[in-house]
Amino acid sequence: MAEAHEYDLLILNGIVVTDTQTVELDIAVNNGMVAKVVPRNALSGVSARRILDAEGGYVMPGGIDSHESFIMAGGRCADDYESGTRSAIAGGTTTIISFAPQSKAEPSLLSVLADTHALADSNCYCDYSFHALCTNAGPLAISEFPALRKAGISSLKFFMAFDDLELHDDEILDVLLEARRNQITILIHAENGKVINWMTKQLEKKKLFDPKYHVNNHPPVAETEAASRAIAFSSFIDVPILIVHVSQPAVAAYIREAQQKGLPIYAETCPQYLFLTREYLNHPGFEGAKCVCSPPPRNEADHEGIWQGLENGTFTVFSSDHCPFVYEDSKGGKKSSISTEYPNGRFQYIPNGCPGVETRLALAMNAKRLKMEKFVEVTATNAAKMYGLYPKKGALIPGESDADITIWYPEGETAMEFKLKNEMLHHNVDYTPYEGQILKAWPRYTILRGRIVWDRDNGGVVGKKGGYGTFLERGVSSLARPLNPEKEWDPEGF
Ligand SMILES: *[C@@H]1O[C@H](CO)[C@@H](O)[C@H](O)[C@H]1NC(C)=O
Ligand SMILES: [Zn+2]
Repeated sequence: MAEAHEYDLLILNGIVVTDTQTVELDIAVNNGMVAKVVPRNALSGVSARRILDAEGGYVMPGGIDSHESFIMAGGRCADDYESGTRSAIAGGTTTIISFAPQSKAEPSLLSVLADTHALADSNCYCDYSFHALCTNAGPLAISEFPALRKAGISSLKFFMAFDDLELHDDEILDVLLEARRNQITILIHAENGKVINWMTKQLEKKKLFDPKYHVNNHPPVAETEAASRAIAFSSFIDVPILIVHVSQPAVAAYIREAQQKGLPIYAETCPQYLFLTREYLNHPGFEGAKCVCSPPPRNEADHEGIWQGLENGTFTVFSSDHCPFVYEDSKGGKKSSISTEYPNGRFQYIPNGCPGVETRLALAMNAKRLKMEKFVEVTATNAAKMYGLYPKKGALIPGESDADITIWYPEGETAMEFKLKNEMLHHNVDYTPYEGQILKAWPRYTILRGRIVWDRDNGGVVGKKGGYGTFLERGVSSLARPLNPEKEWDPEGF
């Protein structure tokens, strides 16, 4: 006869870190949720199906990665929902928000949402949601915003660059206004597409094709100009925006300035802007293509400003922008840009993106730059708040939060110092841009709704795939709101 237990799981003797505190606390979990968070030893003698002794460990809300691309119908992206979310849990991430990507030829956002659901359904190792990705802001897409909200989608990304993706200024204004009316949080890829296209011509005229010219093709001004235009439009419509994957301190400074004026401007940065530099694109031959992403990695001197922006709150979230392509793949991967005429490829045809969903948390933890609370805030809590998942996700509040927990031993495990190798990772990509980096910490346990899904020293990925990861319906952002939400936007007001 099965023994009756009071709790499903106890996590004892650890140091619990949230965005606001670091305290020795014990946690009891029932029915997938945090049931109790109590002072050390207050649960002694209590029975549970499983007890984890987290002595010497840091017990945190599971990571939330609010920016990655997994396979799109007919796409060339290396990871699907199965491999992408497997990689996520192995790196300590329990919730991902990827995209439901609309193409220019597709008038509807709801139809791509349905297609994306079909790709993710029953395939995910972690919990998940989608941002709508709008590339065709025609009347149908705009009319679907209320239905997106009903479907639990409360955020939408658009691009200011790339011919097959970008929205023009008038379309951007249509999207911003309708987002304001429906309380949809806007994410913006802020690079000026015209500047990039113009630079491509300048570089090709000089017969410069190697991967490293991708950096020249995306000059700092393309990003600073687009970011300041995005901020201006946000202020014109009075709608909050979050500028994704900010690569330069100059952009962070614009954002900071807007924030100090009280404007609802939010921002994201990513590991590639802290742990890679443009030199990584300057490897011999075609190697540099591995680190081609947009915006590109910048100079080493820029890293400090990005760290400061994370420390001082300019950046709301630290996400991966995981966008994986196989290197040794001449059909859809990085090497598809190589031909007999161009043995080192042509930078403008190299698929843009790097894998990073699995390495995001470990890189930031190992840098030992952020205070533990700040680490939790920018890698988990703020994403939950920004995208309407708090306090179900990103927190450890009894009775309210899912028991999504990552346990680290960043101090006691000096013996585990290791060189990162791609073969250790769980994605479906044949390289990592961080190959050879020395790491001293890696999540030992990832727990999703009370179940251990990653047990580093005892089986690795132990989560079952089929459907344990569930779709998260999201509500309104608890961080981002217009300055005057009660006031209708009115063209007569100008
Ligand atoms: C905060 O970081 C931003 C971005 O790097 C920087 O521009 C700003 O000067 C910093 N502010 C303070 C008060 O440190
Ligand atoms: Zn982007």
